[in-house]
Amino acid sequence: MTMPFIRPRRLRVSAGIRKLVRETELQAGDFVYPLFVVPGDNLEEEIGSMPGVCHYSPDKAVVVAREAYELGIPAVLVFGLPAYKDEQGSSAWDDASPVQEAVRRIKAALPELTVITDVCLCQYTSHGHCGHLVGQTVDNDSTLELLAKTAVSHARAGADMVAPSDMMDGRVLAIRQALDQQGYTDVSIMSYAVKYASAFYGPFRDAADSAPQTGDRKSYQMDPANAREALREAALDVEEGADILMVKPALVYLDIVRQVKDNFDLPVAAYNVSGEYAMVKAATANGWVDERRIVLETLLSMKRSGADIIITYHALDAARWLREEA
Ligand code: PBG
Repeated sequence: MTMPFIRPRRLRVSAGIRKLVRETELQAGDFVYPLFVVPGDNLEEEIGSMPGVCHYSPDKAVVVAREAYELGIPAVLVFGLPAYKDEQGSSAWDDASPVQEAVRRIKAALPELTVITDVCLCQYTSHGHCGHLVGQTVDNDSTLELLAKTAVSHARAGADMVAPSDMMDGRVLAIRQALDQQGYTDVSIMSYAVKYASAFYGPFRDAADSAPQTGDRKSYQMDPANAREALREAALDVEEGADILMVKPALVYLDIVRQVKDNFDLPVAAYNVSGEYAMVKAATANGWVDERRIVLETLLSMKRSGADIIITYHALDAARWLREEA
């Protein structure tokens, strides 16, 4: 019997050596924590399909943003549920809406925390689509102006970065131009460059009350079957002035995260979406998985696949666990 003289196990014999040769290390600084803000005061209500994630009124959003900041999480991503909805989604660019109010309060309390806002119309339109609905279709070009107005309103409230998630063609350019014209040249754009029409958004649509009333989003969000198209989408957003490219969802699209990382030189973000979160929470509640290990392994895999930034509802827990491990 011949003995192997090359033994990869040598580099696994102790925790010390494993640490030394570890290729990827997760840190709280990689995370963005999403926040759902609602109108009102002193409100904090757990979202049924997303245990541990809450709706917060703007004052409470500051409290949880502080928690994130103190855990070393550099950014929050703010979503809003508006006080009113209409055909156009006009509460999206209303300076008095919950997102704008939360942004003002968070920036006042925590100027060093990066505040990112989701720019989309589906939470704000009565029909639940991500843009201006004409007949059965979302009209691309008339939606651009609405998105641009929304982004400017977020910037006016103090957002450091805007994240358009609507998947209209040309929206990064439209938003960039509008921000620049208003003097917000330093507000960056994290584009949901590659966003698939995914079943993994289910719990979010409950949380954000943003499900389309009729039809689906397949005429604007991408077909999960396509990878080359993802590179085309990303390339367009780069040309239009995006600062960060996002891939969404994350877990079943890690091949896309890797390809975007290898093909472009912008930072890459992966969005660990609501359905991915809910599955872990459900399995945990049943005692079927070890939540802490599942979550850290999942987030690590996103980083290993090329994500520089991970947007995750697990951010607070994960940051705490990483702190304990350090
Ligand atoms: C809005 C938006 C969605 C998500 C982020 N922004 C839902 C959708 O496109 O239907 C999903 C986030 C998640 O599932 O965690 N367009």
